[in-house]
Amino acid sequence: MNYIVDDKRKLKPPPEWRSDIDFVLIREDEILTRIDEIATQLQNEYEGRDLMIVALLSGTILFLADLVRRLNLPLRIDFLGISSYGNETVSTGIKITKELKLELNGRDVLILDDILDTGNTINLTINKIANLRPKSIKTCVLLDKPARRKINIKADYTGFEIPDYFVVGYGLDFAERFRNLPFIGVLKKELYQQQIN
Ligand code: IMP
Ligand code: MG
Repeated sequence: MNYIVDDKRKLKPPPEWRSDIDFVLIREDEILTRIDEIATQLQNEYEGRDLMIVALLSGTILFLADLVRRLNLPLRIDFLGISSYGNETVSTGIKITKELKLELNGRDVLILDDILDTGNTINLTINKIANLRPKSIKTCVLLDKPARRKINIKADYTGFEIPDYFVVGYGLDFAERFRNLPFIGVLKKELYQQQIN
């Protein structure tokens, strides 16, 4: 498939998800094929080096797990809890919910996030990590939603560029739900309108 996903792509959800999901944007097998390709690129970039992955919580859980098992490199993984607040689909600010544990000084750092949207989260993370004097900083995101960008920033590695939908699944949530879907999809409109408890 094309890594630029257009807004005409609306695949039928698997039967067990049809009550909540309007349509599937990216299937599980497509995600995994793309992660294979990104892993090959990272393998070439970081061959012979000692990689430090900083994964942003919580949206990267599935992406991280599928990516690192395809990397045959010496690497370490740390987590940074950074989350936007506001309502469920529009963020108005960002707070740190878990600090880094490992030493990043002199390290080759790869920041991993689920989606690059306005750019605020990645921008803040890059600035925070730059203060820790790593040897290098690169960014890798599964999804890129360029339509809503506020900060002029592009990831070094991107899985898919998507249209301006609020997406869930494969780690991404709506009100902390739906992270466990194996695919990337769009919820039915009624669900975005009501608060899900
Ligand atoms: P940014 O700071 O606006 O770039 O947004 C990044 C963060 O907002 C991501 O790490 C996600 O947690 C969240 N986010 C942005 N767009 C979506 C979406 O479509 N679905 C779920 N979460 C999203
Ligand atoms: Mg979120």
